[in-house]
Amino acid sequence: MAIERVGVVGAGLMGHGIAQVAAQSGYDVVVREIDQERLDKGMGRIEKGLARAVEKGRMQQTEADEVRSRISPTLDYGDLADCDLVIEAIDEDLGAKLQMWREVDNIVKDEAIFATNTSSLGVMDQAAATKRPDRFLGLHYFNPAQVMKLVEVARAVTTSDETFDTGVSFAESEKKLGVKTKDKAGFIVNRLLVPYMLDAIRAYEEGVGSIEEIDAAMKAGAGHPMGPLTLADFVGLDTMGSICDVMFDEFRERRFAQPPTLRKMLAAGWYGQKSGKGFYDYSGDEPVMNPQL
Ligand SMILES: NC(=O)c1ccc[n+]([C@@H]2O[C@H](COP(=O)([O-])OP(=O)(O)OC[C@H]3O[C@@H](n4cnc5c(N)ncnc54)[C@H](O)[C@@H]3O)[C@@H](O)[C@H]2O)c1
Repeated sequence: MAIERVGVVGAGLMGHGIAQVAAQSGYDVVVREIDQERLDKGMGRIEKGLARAVEKGRMQQTEADEVRSRISPTLDYGDLADCDLVIEAIDEDLGAKLQMWREVDNIVKDEAIFATNTSSLGVMDQAAATKRPDRFLGLHYFNPAQVMKLVEVARAVTTSDETFDTGVSFAESEKKLGVKTKDKAGFIVNRLLVPYMLDAIRAYEEGVGSIEEIDAAMKAGAGHPMGPLTLADFVGLDTMGSICDVMFDEFRERRFAQPPTLRKMLAAGWYGQKSGKGFYDYSGDEPVMNPQL
């Protein structure tokens, strides 16, 4: 089916980027948040991103204006009714996602496709909460969605060939690399990346190196653009905590378990860059190692 209108549920770290990319690719976009403050914050991020693209000469002002005009922010699920594709990017919490899908399923037209941007939860578990398990798949973007090239296109056991092909074509229409994967917790990238970040936290706990030393070593020694602890702060420690809980539950392997340091940081409300504090403190001009760790 032809996709023209895209709904994005959630305008946080991922949702605002997914909405911006879709609008930049010519789609009409409806973005739904739970309250006005979060909706304004998400739209503010999009506007800032577009302004930066104009400033850097990557986009003309007229194009930026057009992109912005294609995005309609809303608090009302009803505005998603005519969407051809709805992508969810709400909290990594199965209960919340199921409740949201049940509401959206009753509102959005029957032929529309639903996609989850989950990092670790089952696509099938979500598909089963809807009346359209054949028109349900995973579209897993990476942070920042405006920049990162990959979209993992995840197939649940019920996903139809047509839906899966539409998912891949949609990713390609956004000039992304759509890599097909199965509905296994963490798909390809997080299956490999999450244990790596958790091991970096364990290496820190064991005194192998300081936060900065571990990050510097992996940048200079493995050619990574960002060290693992900076990356964890960037992903969001709350999101990472949820991802490893889901993966630990699924695979029952220590490599997916939350290290004690992460658990304590979450209890303290330190969620990384988004909350101003994680492995680094972001309150000054430059991030510094969190002195309280
Ligand atoms: N952070 C990452 O690097 C990353 C990368 C890929 C995928 N993901 C996945 O994307 C999803 C979102 O993660 P995030 O980092 O953007 O989280 P976030 O906390 O930044 O944003 C989530 C947003 O969803 C909103 N929300 C919650 N319930 C809602 C509802 N019913 N309707 C509309 N909005 C609702 C919240 O208000 C919040 O603004 C998660 O499933 C996560 O696993 C995250």
